[in-house]
Amino acid sequence: MAKLFEGIKIKDMELKNRIVMPPMCMYSSDEHGHAKEFHYIHYGTRAIGGVGLIILEATGVEGRGRISGRDLGIWDDSHIEGLAKIVNICKEYGAKVGIQLGHAGRKCEVEGEEIIAPSPIAFSERYKVPIEMTKKDIEDVIHSFREGARRANEAGFDVIEIHAAHGYLINQFLSPLTNKRTDEYGGSLENRARFLKEIVEEVRKVWPEKKPIIVRVSAEDYVDEGNHPEDLAEILNLVKDKGVDIVNVSSGAVVATRIKVYPGYQIKFAEIIRQRTQLPVIAGGLISQPEMAEEILSNGRADLVYIGRELLRNPYWPLGAAKRLNHDIDWPVQYERAKL
Ligand SMILES: Cc1cc2nc3c(=O)[nH]c(=O)nc-3n(C[C@H](O)[C@H](O)[C@H](O)COP(=O)(O)O)c2cc1C
Repeated sequence: MAKLFEGIKIKDMELKNRIVMPPMCMYSSDEHGHAKEFHYIHYGTRAIGGVGLIILEATGVEGRGRISGRDLGIWDDSHIEGLAKIVNICKEYGAKVGIQLGHAGRKCEVEGEEIIAPSPIAFSERYKVPIEMTKKDIEDVIHSFREGARRANEAGFDVIEIHAAHGYLINQFLSPLTNKRTDEYGGSLENRARFLKEIVEEVRKVWPEKKPIIVRVSAEDYVDEGNHPEDLAEILNLVKDKGVDIVNVSSGAVVATRIKVYPGYQIKFAEIIRQRTQLPVIAGGLISQPEMAEEILSNGRADLVYIGRELLRNPYWPLGAAKRLNHDIDWPVQYERAKL
């Protein structure tokens, strides 16, 4: 019995295996953030391919919260229909579906949008200097996350992931490198965690108690003065009681630094966060070999594994992985004659 193919139940969400497709921007929506045919095919194919949990790409809770002009959006009720169609297709083929709710903050590259951030520091010379958020701006964005969660529920998602990683808005509050505020949202770790805490609290008012919430974090800033896995664990411990059920562990992109990457380079961060928060974690990064995913899970280093680019290369990766791990799984009936 391969651990990778062992089911797991978190709140009401029951996954058939531990394979997660992490959010990956596809820059393919229309210019108003609506889903298009590409999304139905792209996500539906990974569901047919046997992925247990598909998490849709970073989706803007505000127009100015998008990373690019072709990101998916969830800031208007008109977005629900297309998203619901993606959900229905994926569920039809046996996957559970989540959506990453995001706000780019200072990393918004959409032409004509106002750029906001905790502090007026540009990401690089290529980016605009953001406007420092007022208390009203903070309230507005928190409200937008809540509205995004309401729409995600109406669209039928099983889980939402709050994007607190990769140097986007929430991460900009969490990191001392980008948050220079002197009010209750800046300074101490507790203050820097406040924005995320209030978002989770507000989102929980509309997101059903029985459905889980994932928070994705950058566990390492790769700068001495920045956040490290132990800091993120502490932040999550301050926030988790508001309703966090799973942590998706990534790293970097708060500031531009060179990172040495290799298969499994982030697994050690996931282990620290798992141990210190006692929350289930999704770990990954450059994983392409089923044996490696199996090792991570069997040794209790993570609860779920994400497979990103490998699933872009091969949407049927789970079917081949089962064969490699000598684990018999049902193939889609249409493909049974091709079973390995
Ligand atoms: C094309 C592409 C788009 C991505 N977009 C997002 C995103 O929207 N949100 C996010 O949290 N991470 C995003 N990522 C990061 C992935 O979720 C993942 O963490 C990363 O690719 C490392 O995993 P891998 O080595 O298995 O691909 C993106 C990665 C790629 C390759």
